[in-house]
Amino acid sequence: MTTAQPIFSKGGTCKADTHLEIMGKPVMERWETPYMHSLATVAASKGGRVLENGFGMAIAATKVESFPIEEHWIVECNDGVFARLENWAKSQVVPLKGLWEEVVPTLPDNHFDGILYDTYPLSEELGTPTGHAHRLLKPWRRPHLLQPDLMGELLKTKYDNIEKMFEETQVPHLLQAGFKKEKISTTTMDIAPPSECKYYSFKKMITPTIVKQ
Ligand SMILES: C[S@@+](CC[C@H](N)C(=O)[O-])C[C@H]1O[C@@H](n2cnc3c(N)ncnc32)[C@H](O)[C@@H]1O
Repeated sequence: MTTAQPIFSKGGTCKADTHLEIMGKPVMERWETPYMHSLATVAASKGGRVLENGFGMAIAATKVESFPIEEHWIVECNDGVFARLENWAKSQVVPLKGLWEEVVPTLPDNHFDGILYDTYPLSEELGTPTGHAHRLLKPWRRPHLLQPDLMGELLKTKYDNIEKMFEETQVPHLLQAGFKKEKISTTTMDIAPPSECKYYSFKKMITPTIVKQ
């Protein structure tokens, strides 16, 4: 179980809408837009009720809203980012304040058609969100789950192949959570992170689609 450190609950500055920094750490940058759109498309393209963890700069959230979804629940722990979420939220948005580690366990079973995780990693534990995702997803709607946490760090330190990274670090947790191997697929996209980006330098991003039966 991840021991969540509430280091992201305070502070948070958006610089000219191109960067989000929290406590001096770079958390999100605008160049990630094509990747965020890819993740949001997988999570929202089936419609229904979507859960998003981590609002950030609203890039994925805005894309989620471009699909004909019914509800969009968003968990965000940072005070400043949450204030922006409340201003941004339309009627079908349910803003939930807090760490996902605390909020997600309170959400009902079989409630969501798609889930998108893009919070800033608080520990090296990769498996924690997947167990909840299996419980939260509706079994009959062929929904999707995404979990891109920690990719940048792993690709800097341990892996030079993004598919291998996903296979070795993510798939075991997904199987343990109850997802079936044959329902896990990925696509990769070429990207060009700017050289000054401090948290991601790999030239590819991976979009996983995990369907619960
Ligand atoms: C990388 S940004 C999300 C970017 C977003 N997907 C977008 O497209 O703009 C991560 C966000 O997750 C929030 N966050 C980090 N850890 C969290 C946690 N444990 N629970 C809830 N929110 C968290 C941060 O405050 C930040 O707003």
